[in-house]
Amino acid sequence: MSKILLINGHPAPTKSLAGKSIIENFAALCPQTEVRNLAELLIAGKFDISTEQRALVQADVIIWQFPFYWYSVPAIMKKWIDDVLAHGFAYGSQGTALHGKRLLISFTTGAPEVEYAEGRSMNWPVKDFLPPLLQTAKLCGLKPLSPIWSTNMNFIEGVHTDADRERIKSAAHAHALRMADEISQQR
Ligand SMILES: Cc1cc2nc3c(=O)[nH]c(=O)nc-3n(C[C@H](O)[C@H](O)[C@H](O)COP(=O)(O)O)c2cc1C
Repeated sequence: MSKILLINGHPAPTKSLAGKSIIENFAALCPQTEVRNLAELLIAGKFDISTEQRALVQADVIIWQFPFYWYSVPAIMKKWIDDVLAHGFAYGSQGTALHGKRLLISFTTGAPEVEYAEGRSMNWPVKDFLPPLLQTAKLCGLKPLSPIWSTNMNFIEGVHTDADRERIKSAAHAHALRMADEISQQR
């Protein structure tokens, strides 16, 4: 059975609805998953890099799970990428530790899909924002699976309704099923 490592890049996981629901559903579907919450692992502004790298080495499948922030990963996840995917470990002539592992990019957006189009507020399709992350994966010898995202997942207490909450939870369940399916198909 593949060992799955899910890196949760949410900066405030206790305030998350969409990402938290996705992770709960996914962990129920794939109980061999190790979840690492970056918000809990950043101590005095630093990650324990060797612990993070060891977790990556032990995994067959790596998931980057995050809320879309300014068309990319949140700052805490960018820091993890900058610090943990180091030269000599993840790239460079000696940096082969991640070669051949699968990477699933999984995220949620606030804006609905219809806004991700030319002439609408986001101007480009969601997929057009992903090349920097996909290239990061490729430079590290990771095999990117098809990225999975769910749009219109923003929930603000007091603004959105109970019906919105239920819609988001149901979309999170469907999202987790798609993740498990993508991983099981791409061995
Ligand atoms: C700092 C910040 C930046 C955001 N940037 C985007 C963005 O670029 N595009 C978008 O569709 N939503 C954006 N959002 C909305 C989040 O993606 C959305 O709230 C999140 O996916 C919901 O998941 P959660 O319940 O796990 O937090 C942003 C939210 C914040 C707080």
